[in-house]
Amino acid sequence: MQSAGDFSVKITNTLTVDVWRQSAAQAQGRFVTYDVTGVSPETTVLELLDLLNAQLPEGEAPVKFDDGCREGNCGKCGVMVDGVAHGPEYNKASCQQHVRAFRNGDRVQLEPLRAQSFPVLADLTVDKKKALRTVVKAARGPAGMKALTNAGCISCGACVAACPNGSGQLFVGSLLTELPPLMKDDDERRERTAQVISTADETFGPCSTLGDCTEVCPAGLPLENLSAVAREHLRNQGKTRHT
Ligand code: SF4
Ligand code: FES
Repeated sequence: MQSAGDFSVKITNTLTVDVWRQSAAQAQGRFVTYDVTGVSPETTVLELLDLLNAQLPEGEAPVKFDDGCREGNCGKCGVMVDGVAHGPEYNKASCQQHVRAFRNGDRVQLEPLRAQSFPVLADLTVDKKKALRTVVKAARGPAGMKALTNAGCISCGACVAACPNGSGQLFVGSLLTELPPLMKDDDERRERTAQVISTADETFGPCSTLGDCTEVCPAGLPLENLSAVAREHLRNQGKTRHT
């Protein structure tokens, strides 16, 4: 697997693209190879998919992917590029990733965000909302969503896909960093943070503090946010001073 950030400016014209094709959630998927022409170093990953769809053989169904703002704000667009969530440039959503890392004739692999908690729906689209929302809803009421907004998280799910364990610790830790000030008292904080932590444990894999999540997070959320999970957990056990 290539690391995020490993890229340089190259002249690109034609790329050979291996794309994950899967007609439906229960269908068998496989990589299908296409040559895509007219690619420039400034072409983004989503524009590469636009070009690919425009050049498909007649009668072939367009490659499905999650499209959105194309400005790095909505969190919808993530795909894996050569095994890296969002793509090779650090901390950029797929819609903001350019293909300048590749030279004319290179081969690039595009597949859906891979995580046990994100089932593939079709081609490059996954259901990441269900897992992420389950954890946010555990905070009950609008506080969970507000905490994520305050943290700057765009709920793209890349941290989960980047983690070899499928951990959502950067997402959960960012939520828990901002949740406490929104609670009316200590009892509410204890109850809601405990609910978020246990729901996250059921939904995602364990965190091994590898840090791959911070390399791909388009919001640039820091590794320190992971510590909010342990802090709230220990606090709920009465093992730390109240902070
Ligand atoms: S923490 Fe970062 S990578 Fe994870 S869902 Fe939020 S914005 Fe995406
Ligand atoms: S399409 Fe909105 S963040 Fe990429």
